[in-house]
Formats: sequence, C-alpha cells, structure tokens
Amino acid sequence: MAANPTFLAPGEGETVFSVSSVPIKFGPGALREVGADAQSLGMKRVALFVDPHVLASAPGETALGALRAAGLDVEVYDRARCEPNSDSFEEAAAFAREGDIDGFVSMGGGSVMDTAKAANLLSSYPDELIAYINAPIGKAKPIPGRLKPHIACPTTCGTGSETTGIAIVDLKSVGLKTGIASPMLKPSLAIVDPTTTESLPGGVVAASGFDVLSHAVESYTARPYTSRPRPAHPLQRPPYQGSTPYNDIGSIAAIRLGGKYLVRAVRDAEDKEARHRLMFASTLAGLAFGSAGVHVPHAMSYSVATLKHEFTAKGYEERDPMVPHGIAVVINAPAAFRFTASANPGRHLEAAAALGADVAGAAPEDAGEILARAFISLMRETALPSGIAALGYGEADVPALAEGAFAQQRPLVMAPRSVSKQDLESIYRDALRYW
Ligand SMILES: NC(=O)c1ccc[n+]([C@@H]2O[C@H](COP(=O)([O-])OP(=O)(O)OC[C@H]3O[C@@H](n4cnc5c(N)ncnc54)[C@H](O)[C@@H]3O)[C@@H](O)[C@H]2O)c1
Ligand SMILES: [Fe+2]
Repeated sequence: MAANPTFLAPGEGETVFSVSSVPIKFGPGALREVGADAQSLGMKRVALFVDPHVLASAPGETALGALRAAGLDVEVYDRARCEPNSDSFEEAAAFAREGDIDGFVSMGGGSVMDTAKAANLLSSYPDELIAYINAPIGKAKPIPGRLKPHIACPTTCGTGSETTGIAIVDLKSVGLKTGIASPMLKPSLAIVDPTTTESLPGGVVAASGFDVLSHAVESYTARPYTSRPRPAHPLQRPPYQGSTPYNDIGSIAAIRLGGKYLVRAVRDAEDKEARHRLMFASTLAGLAFGSAGVHVPHAMSYSVATLKHEFTAKGYEERDPMVPHGIAVVINAPAAFRFTASANPGRHLEAAAALGADVAGAAPEDAGEILARAFISLMRETALPSGIAALGYGEADVPALAEGAFAQQRPLVMAPRSVSKQDLESIYRDALRYW
C-alpha cells in the first residue's frame, strides 16, 4: 500500500507559508546570560536538565553559576538517558512534578532537551505518555495549553531540538522510536553557545553532524509547500509545511557548512572554527526542518535504531550497544536520495553541489547517484559503518524494517514522491552495504 499523499500542481495548492521561530541567542559566551534570561522569563525555581558530561565541563559550570548568581533556586537533574525511552521520560516527569518546578533549562544534546520537553509536558498536563505520542502509534492528543518556560541550550552539533516542537522517544511498549510533535513543545528561548562542542568526542560530532546534514538535505528536497492542499482554516495549516523559500535559505547554507566543516570537526577536537561553524549549521538546519519537515531517511531511521542493539559507535563506548540517531538516519540517506531524486533532480543536484560534489554537466537522471556518492564519501572519511549490514541487519530483516518505517507516515508524507512499503524494502536492500 502506498502512502499516496496528494501532490497538487503549482497554483492548485497552498499559496501561503508561515515563519515562526524560537528566539535564538548564538555565540561563544551566550551561556553567561542564561541566569538573566531565566529571570526575565519569570522563572524562580528552575529544573536544570543537564548531560552528566556537560555538568562537569566549563560551559556546565558557567550555566549553573549564572543561574545561581541570578538568585534562582536550581534543582539539577542529570539522569536523562542518552536516546531516551518511555521510562526515562516518565522518571523525569516525576522529578518535575515532585520538585514544584516553575521553569526548565536544558543543557545537553537532543536526549536531554527532549527529556526536558517531555517532563515539562507531563508535569504540566499529566496524562499517559502514549496519549501525546503521534498517531497512528499514539493518540496524538493536542497539548491543552501553554507549557512552563523552557530555555534549551544544545551541546551537540546536533539535533536542532532547541528550536523544534518535537520530543523523540523509544517507546518500549511497541518497540518503536517515535515522538510527540506540537508547537507547544517549542522552547521559549534557545541559547546556542558553540564552546559547548569543544568537549565532544569525535564520534559524537560525526553522529550528530550527519543528523544536521540529513535535516538540511531532507528539508531542501521535501515536497514543496505548494503541492499540499490549501487548508480550510489557517489553524489547520500543518506544522510541517514542506520546503519553502524561507527554509531553503537555511537548509542550503547548512549543507554548505556541513560539507566544508564536518570532517574537520570530527577529526580534530582542537579545530574550534570547524566545531563552531558546524554548531551554526545545526541551528540553521534545525530551524529549516522544524518547519519544512524531514522525510525518507528519518522515517527509516526509527526501525534501524530499535530492531537491533548490536552496534557500538565510536564516542558511545560507555553506553549499551545502540545505533545513535544521526547514524541511524544517514545510513539510509544515500539509498533514500537515489529513490527520491527523480521527483526533483535539480534540488538533489544543488544539495550535492553544496556538499562539495562536482555536478558540472550532470544529467537529471544522475542526480540521485551524485548526491548518494557525496554522502558516502563523507561517511567513509569519518569512519562511519558501511551500511545497515554493519549494524547487524541482513536481507531477512528487510520486511520488519520496512514495516516499522511505513508506520512513520508523518515524515513519509513529506517525501517528494509517494513511498510504498515495497519501496521501503528496496531502499533498505540498497542500504545494506555501500562499500
Ligand atoms: N527533538 C528533535 O527535534 C530531535 C531531532 C533529531 C534527533 N532527536 C533526538 O535526539 C537524540 C540524540 O541527540 P544528540 O545526537 O544531540 O546526542 P545525545 O544527547 O544523545 O548525546 C550523545 C552523547 O554525547 C554526550 N555529550 C553531549 N554533549 C556533550 C558535550 N558537550 N561534551 C561531551 N559529551 C557530550 C552525551 O552524554 C551522550 O553520551 C535522539 O534521541 C534523537 O532521536 C531529537
Ligand atoms: Fe534527526
């Protein structure tokens, strides 16, 4: 069965796009201002959700010191699980409920920021987690009202979670990674201080950096917003609009920055310029995908991340085996873009060129292969696994992988062409081994 979204011709569909964003502070030293910012958002008793590695780092000390210097009462929570599951969301919510918290500051990667979003939601409007999870896996209950203020400070380069209304969770009851998505989940302020990336292991820069590149290329190649039907009422305009002229600017800039700095940032922790620029790419890509949406590589990532736990990525050695989000995504990207390129070859070629590929004289039918090769080349240079076979998957796992991916209709309908379960099976087969 195909996902089969409606694709309207230009002029027949949507004509309006919207731009909404979380206020952002970006730059070295931005964390020194977090106390004053929390105060101006009315916080008095703050939950500081912080990654344990970051708590021990200089930026961690800066943030905690700034909150205390502003006279705020700070409760530290450093137990967010890396790649959170339903238990860790519930535990964090219990902490927030019992602590009588009136505001949240999260400081860490996507795992910590998403856990703070969930704790904010589940302590403000208590219900079972599954009630808020995206349909069809959960009940997609609308968030009843405003949440407590939340300042999100990313320390990986990165998920972009500091500006998105998304919290991703490994849902133990169904054995699938999925999420909660609502504009209400968007943080009140993002403080992006790129000095936080200086303590990151190279392997975490690789995983999170490929997440950035995937966000940017998927947003850029997503179906155009004009291909959707016009909503009957403005409030029915979907949060994921498809690619828009506004999002395109951030996406293409993020692809260029990633193409130029990702390998340097992975290989050399001393290369501050590369890490700081990659952090900026992360923010740009987060803004773009939070509004345009992502598609096939992300839809496919959730079953890659949940069906087998046999892989240990560089930089994640202290964790139980698992596939970090950025690797679970990019491992599908070459095969997915080979599949989607026929829908808009020009955009796939522009993305490849922005990544640094030579596209001179390329024909439209070469677009998918050229973009795939640009990704494969970066993956090899950063010692990523050579395909999903290296994560423990084989031909026999393909139907289950495709079944799980097909349930992710929210991203799949943002693809530039419709995607059936059989298509997903072929793409997974292509992703088994790239070199
Ligand atoms: N909400 C969203 O919009 C969104 C988007 C993409 C991904 N995600 C989710 O985000 C999670 C992944 O987040 P991530 O890639 O940012 O990584 P992460 O938060 O899982 O952290 C990865 C590792 O890096 C360590 N770490 C983090 N910052 C550090 C620092 N500055 N110095 C040293 N070590 C540090 C952590 O302890 C952990 O071991 C996944 O659960 C994924 O599904 C969310
Ligand atoms: Fe992602």
